[in-house]
Amino acid sequence: MVRSIEIPRPDDWHVHLRDDAMLASVVAFTASRFRYAMVMPNLVAPVTSVVAALAYRDRIVSLAPTGFDFRPLMTLYCSAALDTADLRHGVESGAVKAVKYYPAGATTNSEAGGAAMADFMDVFEVVADLGIRLLVHAESTDPAVDVFDREAVFLERELAPLCEAIPELHVTVEHVSTAAGVEFVSAHPRVAASVTPHHLARERSDLLADGMRPDLYCKPIINSRADQEALIAAVTSGDAAFFLGTDSAPHPTTDKYGPRAKAGVFNAAYGLEVVAEVFHRAGCLDALGAFVSSNGSAIYGVEPSTERLRLERQDVPRSSAVMTLATATGAEVVHFGTEEAVFWTVNPV
Ligand code: NCD
Ligand code: ZN
Repeated sequence: MVRSIEIPRPDDWHVHLRDDAMLASVVAFTASRFRYAMVMPNLVAPVTSVVAALAYRDRIVSLAPTGFDFRPLMTLYCSAALDTADLRHGVESGAVKAVKYYPAGATTNSEAGGAAMADFMDVFEVVADLGIRLLVHAESTDPAVDVFDREAVFLERELAPLCEAIPELHVTVEHVSTAAGVEFVSAHPRVAASVTPHHLARERSDLLADGMRPDLYCKPIINSRADQEALIAAVTSGDAAFFLGTDSAPHPTTDKYGPRAKAGVFNAAYGLEVVAEVFHRAGCLDALGAFVSSNGSAIYGVEPSTERLRLERQDVPRSSAVMTLATATGAEVVHFGTEEAVFWTVNPV
């Protein structure tokens, strides 16, 4: 039996496109499938100024394939180097769409982030005043906190007080990964959340139980089965506060398979198929378009795309999907989602 659904061309509200040879190799996957892409600023020299964001945007556009309605949106990295006058100018000129806060040390290239949100109240006041969203990597960096509890602890200790201090601030909890995160979003009307394909489709036993899987290692860490179920329930319910952000985060295998794996899952190629499979298995394929196409566009104040994609599921899988990508400088990156991708074909209508 073939099951088929049509959706507006989706948006990716959280993606790492990297730079140089890696950017050149990965950008086509995002550009060929997604319309808006909220581009994360955690390059090795973080994107902290409007000039740097515009230069990065130019590199992205020049390396993206033509012929697609692909629209990268730029973010600024919240750090000591961020200048609020520059931020204001960037937002008012349309160059900058959001500010991203990383707790220093929480994840890949987060060293320039904050020790505490309370140190950046002046930036957050400007973000609220400009009416843009504050994008938050919500993970405690307190070494005393268990890695599986870090999202819940951060929300309670840092984000809840901030929401109380600046009630008009709009916040996106990025890559929400726990039941506690879902509850936090539901309890705060100005807080929404992006959700990744891998947090919806895997749980920590997949990461750890049957041979440790560096390709599933990301931050926030993929959490328990109960957390996964809470995420699936939130996104399949059609709740408008939850939308797709793939958090596609490519790393060369040399950085993944060493003694200390870097955090990040590369899902730009098959993330949509993974999400479709999650919705299919939950018996909620009809709710897919809300999650991947219309909820996020409403949160970010744009109309859903008028272009459409058709997703078709075959019960008999294709024999294989491409497993890896090679960059021009010889790096290899492993695709996430090949298991799901073999069931799906995706085409423009
Ligand atoms: C991201 C990366 O590699 O840039 N890694 C990840 O595990 N998600 C950074 C991030 O979003 O945390
Ligand atoms: Zn990310």
